[in-house]
Amino acid sequence: TQYKYHICCMGAGYVGGPTMAVIASNCPDIRVCVVDLSKRMIDAWNTDELPIYEPGLLEVVKSARGRNLFFSTDIDAEIQKADMVFISVNTPTKTTGIGAGRAANIKNCELCARKIAEVATGPKVVVEKSTVPVRTADAVRRVLMANDKGIDFQVLSNPEFLAEGTAIADLQKPGRVLIGGMQTDKGKAAIQQLVDVYAHWVPTERILTTSLWSSELSKLVANAFLAQRVSSINSISALCEATDADVHEVSRALSFDDRIGPKFLTASVGFGGSCFQKDVLNLVYICESLGLQEVADYWYQVIALNDYQKQRFTRNMLQRMFNTVTGKKIALLGFAFKKDTGDTRETPAVFVAKALLDEGAKLRVFDPQVSREQMLEEFDYTCGVNETTLPGLTTSDMILTMEDAYTACEGAHAIAVLTEWDAFKTLDYKRIYASMAKPAFVFDGRNVVDIAALRQIGFEVYSIGKPIQKNQFI
Ligand code: NAI
Repeated sequence: TQYKYHICCMGAGYVGGPTMAVIASNCPDIRVCVVDLSKRMIDAWNTDELPIYEPGLLEVVKSARGRNLFFSTDIDAEIQKADMVFISVNTPTKTTGIGAGRAANIKNCELCARKIAEVATGPKVVVEKSTVPVRTADAVRRVLMANDKGIDFQVLSNPEFLAEGTAIADLQKPGRVLIGGMQTDKGKAAIQQLVDVYAHWVPTERILTTSLWSSELSKLVANAFLAQRVSSINSISALCEATDADVHEVSRALSFDDRIGPKFLTASVGFGGSCFQKDVLNLVYICESLGLQEVADYWYQVIALNDYQKQRFTRNMLQRMFNTVTGKKIALLGFAFKKDTGDTRETPAVFVAKALLDEGAKLRVFDPQVSREQMLEEFDYTCGVNETTLPGLTTSDMILTMEDAYTACEGAHAIAVLTEWDAFKTLDYKRIYASMAKPAFVFDGRNVVDIAALRQIGFEVYSIGKPIQKNQFI
């Protein structure tokens, strides 16, 4: 055939889709096929209405789709064809059973391993792309080797470090590619096969190879460090508000220190996304299971502080708005967990919205990438809020999604900015102010608005970690 090598990727989500698209576009000699149990996902990947929103993704997909990039639901046939199978399935926090609320559920990974063992007719390199608890490769390997066909499987760990919203840039120019494998001859040969794939476009000095366990653990630790940085600056934002210091100025002062560096120092309403909380909790759970309670407690604070930050934001809204929001319209600008993605998993917006609904507010939501259907699904999944538990949620005007920011703000008592979409910086806030109830409040959970300009217009503005406006009516 015209292909030198065959790759199959199980899981066509936020990681599997973009990662394989970038591999295919950089490796025309490799045939890449992404498979998924979800026909809906696969069908969407085969159209120009991709199932996920990610800047630049469509162009990359189009450059390779039909040439050496394919999306299919024929999982068995694609596994059989492949030299290398990536496992890129979701590994969410367990919701029931032992470790509920903390441990990551690796059920999907195990199912993939079983599927591979069942249908494979020849040797394969199996690559864990999903983020998994350290030592999962051991389980995957044992499931694979329990086949009775005498087939050899090598297991590698190759965690993904892309960030949603910048996935394509991250994949095209990764800071590093991490590959863990067994330190045996066969293990090293498998590592080399994966190095050869990435070496098509990644400089070899950026391809790091380690043991399986170091690789698995490094991914959890990387996310724990990143989340910790957000919680650290968020903790300081509370102190800033209490002392008239400005968190932005503090961050800037820190950022000039080479040892600290400038990134991930932006205070906000809290981090979200499918990974930070899940991976930190997973780390906590692993430490607890190993009797390392002090280590577990240390990392748990990263999550506790994030919860505190979300609550603090909503408490402040309520308090500033005369301790009642009952019956008041509140505009939520942004619902995705960050800009340039439509992903709402663990978004702080859900927690803020839930707290405001509990207070009887009427929410008007605008997010350029989040549909009403998806928002309601997220409510149900994250906090069990649905038409049954909260009658009227979907049928009354309790929570409406709006076409644009202006209609969302019309008649509202307050605006809460919950996602840092660039477009929210340049809205016509004079027009918005004119259409709102007075006093008109802005609670900026992402520090996107120009505080001075908005106060000039007449808004009462509260931003995370910024000096509090002295009450203008006293
Ligand atoms: P996702 O939920 O977007 O996609 C997972 C896909 O796997 C779904 O489409 C699902 O239908 C499919 N799937 C589940 N079980 C399957 C099976 N047995 N066979 C075939 N397909 C199956 O998840 P996402 O966000 O892509 O995450 C995947 C993994 O990558 C997780 O472990 C996550 O922690 C990790 N990760 C995620 C990042 C992100 O930004 N989303 C970044 C880095 C790592």
